[in-house]
Order: sequence, then C-alpha cells, then structure tokens
Amino acid sequence: MYTSGWFVLLPIHLLTTHEVPWVPTRYELISHIMRIARVGPGDVFYDLGCGDGRVVIEAAKRGAKAVCIEIREDLLRQAKENAKKACVYERIKFIHDDFFRVDLSDATIVYMYLLTRVNEKLRPKLQRELSIGTRVVTLDFAIPKWRPVHIEKHYTGGLERTIYLYIKGVSDVFTETV
Ligand SMILES: C[S@@+](CC[C@H](N)C(=O)[O-])C[C@H]1O[C@@H](n2cnc3c(N)ncnc32)[C@H](O)[C@@H]1O
Repeated sequence: MYTSGWFVLLPIHLLTTHEVPWVPTRYELISHIMRIARVGPGDVFYDLGCGDGRVVIEAAKRGAKAVCIEIREDLLRQAKENAKKACVYERIKFIHDDFFRVDLSDATIVYMYLLTRVNEKLRPKLQRELSIGTRVVTLDFAIPKWRPVHIEKHYTGGLERTIYLYIKGVSDVFTETV
C-alpha cells in the first residue's frame, strides 16, 4: 500500500488522538489543488479537517463559499484569524465538529487531506450525501474503490505528492451500493 512520507514518520500517539493529525497542505500545492478542482464563484468548497484554514482561504479568494470543519478548537481559532487577515472571513463557514457529523449535501467540491482508512470510512457518507458532479480532491491518500478521473504528481518538500480528482457519479459507479 502506498503511504506518503509524513505518515510513516508519525509517532503512534498522534494517530490515536484525533485519528488524523494536523499536517498542513504545503502552500506550493494549493494553486494546483485549486486548478484541478476548478474552484470558482458559485462553488461551495468543503475542507474536511481544515487545520489552519489555508486551503479554504484560497478557495474563498477565488470566489467560492467555503466550509472549514475542524475538530481541534485551537486550529479552528487559528483558521478564523488567518481568514480575517486574508479578508475572506465572511465567505467561510467555520464548524467546530467531527466531519462525520456534518452534512455535506450542498458541497460542489470536497477537499480531504486525511488517511486512506479515513477516506474509506468517509466513502459511504460521500456516496449518500454528495450530488452528481461534485468534485472530490484528495491529497496523497486515495479513496479506496473509487476511480480517480485525474492524478497529478508534484515533487515538493523532498517528497512526491499525489493529488487525486474524483467526480461523484463517475468515480463511484464501480463501487457497491451503500
Ligand atoms: C492532515 S491535516 C490537513 C489540514 C488541512 N486540510 C490542510 O490540508 O492543510 C488533517 C486535519 O483534520 C483534522 N481532523 C482529524 N479528524 C477529524 C475529524 N473527525 N473531524 C474534523 N477534523 C478532523 C485534524 O485536526 C487536522 O487538522
């Protein structure tokens, strides 16, 4: 199984505390993510586990409405401060919760920088709640049993990073019904 560099170096307690620790998306990848997801006005962009808000802030700067869901209160506070500094606070909805408990049905784009096993756990929720045509972009970890429509690799920070694009209604038609 493919794992990215940061995952294999993580201390085990970080994996058990919040299931996925905070490892931010590198800034140099964000413009690629925005391009691949085709983020623009009219989009509703969700980041499941939004960390310090850096990805939702870029989506909001491109005219999207964004939703930042984060289980760690300290990070959500940081995300709000960063959004204020970037003058996009009003375009972002901040939710302090577990993303498994948040309804995703108005999303047009979902971004996930999580782990394969968490993507797998999220898959039935994505299948249930997302509309046909919703773009789902993941960094470094694929969604098991979904077929990406596009894969892009970028070398940065000493590691190869992989961006996967999935489209609801195209990527999931091979999966069993859940
Ligand atoms: C790898 S980091 C990615 C952060 C951000 N999306 C980015 O790309 O910069 C994963 C984030 O998900 C958050 N997280 C983990 N499990 C979560 C859950 N069940 N609900 C909400 N947030 C969660 C972590 O606290 C962490 O900030």
